[in-house]
Amino acid sequence: MNEADFDSKKEGVVLSGMRPTGELHIGHFEGVLRNWVELQNTHRSFYFVADWHALTTELDTTHLQRHTLDMVKDWLAFGVDPEKSTIFVQSYVPQHAELGLILERLINIGALERMPSFKDQLNHLSTQSTTRDENGQILTGEDAFRRLAKEKVSAGFLNYPVLQSADILLYGATHVPVGEDQLPHIELTRELARIFNRQYGETLVVPEALVGEAKRIRGTDGRKMSKSYKNDINPGMDPAQITSRVKSMVTVRSTLEKKGEPFDCAVYDLQRVFNQEGELRIAQGCRNASIRCYDCKMELPDKISAAYDDYREKRPKIGDDFVKDVLHEGNKRATTVAQRTIERVIEAMKMDYLR
Ligand code: TRP
Repeated sequence: MNEADFDSKKEGVVLSGMRPTGELHIGHFEGVLRNWVELQNTHRSFYFVADWHALTTELDTTHLQRHTLDMVKDWLAFGVDPEKSTIFVQSYVPQHAELGLILERLINIGALERMPSFKDQLNHLSTQSTTRDENGQILTGEDAFRRLAKEKVSAGFLNYPVLQSADILLYGATHVPVGEDQLPHIELTRELARIFNRQYGETLVVPEALVGEAKRIRGTDGRKMSKSYKNDINPGMDPAQITSRVKSMVTVRSTLEKKGEPFDCAVYDLQRVFNQEGELRIAQGCRNASIRCYDCKMELPDKISAAYDDYREKRPKIGDDFVKDVLHEGNKRATTVAQRTIERVIEAMKMDYLR
């Protein structure tokens, strides 16, 4: 199939990526992947493994290959289709670095330091150990943050949203399906595209974020769902495992007689996504205390499990070699598109002055 045929009838370009950091949970599947699968039918779609992004917090590359292949297997088993989408690996398309380097020059450090992801990382680091100044004095608050930012965060982490912008702008993406937490990064991408266009002439497409309907699935303890918090639910779990995770969830009603507010309850996040027929009845039952939390929970495990029957059947049939073939093919196709953008960027900047 040549490139012109591949996407000939599609309007609009979608691009999104995920870091290969380990097992995906239902938040990734429902919040992001479901959108990917839908959009590949209507848009020219690029989905990639953000391995350079993973390196901003984890230098150890021992598990990179395994995590990459496993994550792409998840995508494929869930319905991301290499016949419809270009699926590739960031580090195999070095144009991402080239555009990233150019964009870095258009933005101040302050704007990057103000990114919520940067602040979250400082917050996280500040809970890991005490921060001291060069004389050994304990630092707190803003002083601790300033010190951590200087000593513990890589330049790559600070630049994370710039590389992400390059990822997006290289493919002329019109839409970027992501989780809600990524919105500030897409805002920065838009800003960088506008700055570039103002400085060098209309070249880059200003993209829009698309956030999935299943906006928020909190973890089983009410915090953000994350494997590292052990509060996650995975599509690979069997109904018994899902049941035990769901049972462990803390609900908002302290006693049965107490009325609840479903939107304050992480169990209801799951009802909204996996039990749409029951959603209203349950919300009412929670608000007027006519349904027991236990019964509410017990409606879920079979439904959650069933949503991934197809995935669980396909997943083990996908081999490493097939995934590598898909990625090699995708890398080639992505490189062609990315190189075309780089050439237009260089021309716009008049940096083709030796021609
Ligand atoms: N930052 C995204 C995340 O953590 C991953 C990512 C990297 C991405 N580059 C991207 C997402 C470009 C969308 C578009 O989920």
